[in-house]
Amino acid sequence: MEQLADRILLLLRFQPKRKIEINDLSKKLKAELPNVKAALKILNEWGYKFLQDKNKISFVSAPDILSATEISHQLKTKFTGKVIHSFNTVKSTNDIAHQLADKGAVEGTIVTAEKQTLGKGRLGRSWHSPEKMGIYVSIILRPKFTPDQAPGLSIMSALGVAEAMNEYAPKKVQIKWPNDILINGRKAAGVLTELSAEKNKINYVIAGIGINVKQSQSGFPLNLSGTATSLQQETGKEISRVELLKLVLVNFEKEYLRYRKNQLIKSLPRIRKWSSLLNQEVTLQWNGAAVTGTAVDIDRSGSLIIISKGNRMSVSSGEVTVVKKQ
Ligand code: BTN
Repeated sequence: MEQLADRILLLLRFQPKRKIEINDLSKKLKAELPNVKAALKILNEWGYKFLQDKNKISFVSAPDILSATEISHQLKTKFTGKVIHSFNTVKSTNDIAHQLADKGAVEGTIVTAEKQTLGKGRLGRSWHSPEKMGIYVSIILRPKFTPDQAPGLSIMSALGVAEAMNEYAPKKVQIKWPNDILINGRKAAGVLTELSAEKNKINYVIAGIGINVKQSQSGFPLNLSGTATSLQQETGKEISRVELLKLVLVNFEKEYLRYRKNQLIKSLPRIRKWSSLLNQEVTLQWNGAAVTGTAVDIDRSGSLIIISKGNRMSVSSGEVTVVKKQ
């Protein structure tokens, strides 16, 4: 029945304004009339809206759900999101992506969920993933380069996400090294990249992306309420998660294709321009130690360059905070 529902949608969406006789629909799809009616009922329950006038029907609108049907509709990518595993509730889309990749899932396969019960963040943190409030997606990559070239994928992913979000909130988006996306200085998205590799070979990379889209400020738990935000809150506009996800996939793929050719070289000017840390006094915490200095650059490998007491440090991971001016 779900397959029939998908075929009905395809047909009605092809000419959205045209009214089609339900009888003709059943003939065109070679499906029994009661089955067509039952499929239309299912589509209604999923949130699709149709205009029905006696026995004629036309497409009005689709719901903002992260289903394979909605994501793949007019998705303009070459390979990203061509295979979609969409779930309602999972522990973590990254964990499912690992399982699929271990079984041979192709590059560009994506896993999405409406809700995560154990969403993972960087540095062992959790990612708050309430139902239908955000985008929770993991992308499987199978780059041909060696594991030492993988670290830059984090900031590359952040750039792809930031570019998509910039379409909705122009001039308000920044990247906080290595992979946070800020709007008006607050965190609205994050990327968790996980690598499976042997000595000299990458088996696969999972790029897990979490975007806060619809949360109101009171929707965040207390520990996040001072630092987190959502795209909808910062723009004051109603945002379609499906449309945003499609834009993320397009931008992500563009950046990834650039990265496969030239690593970060072509992306660095934009990464630097959008960085929230450059030329700021920052504190780096890593391995239980803290260093304060000036963040001066992000290099070709994606490392942050900090000058501390005259020493130039190249930092590949850790947590960086801007030192507040007194
Ligand atoms: C961070 O900023 O700490 C990274 C957050 C990454 C969250 C996403 S949501 C989809 C994917 N699945 C997970 O469990 N985590 C990532």
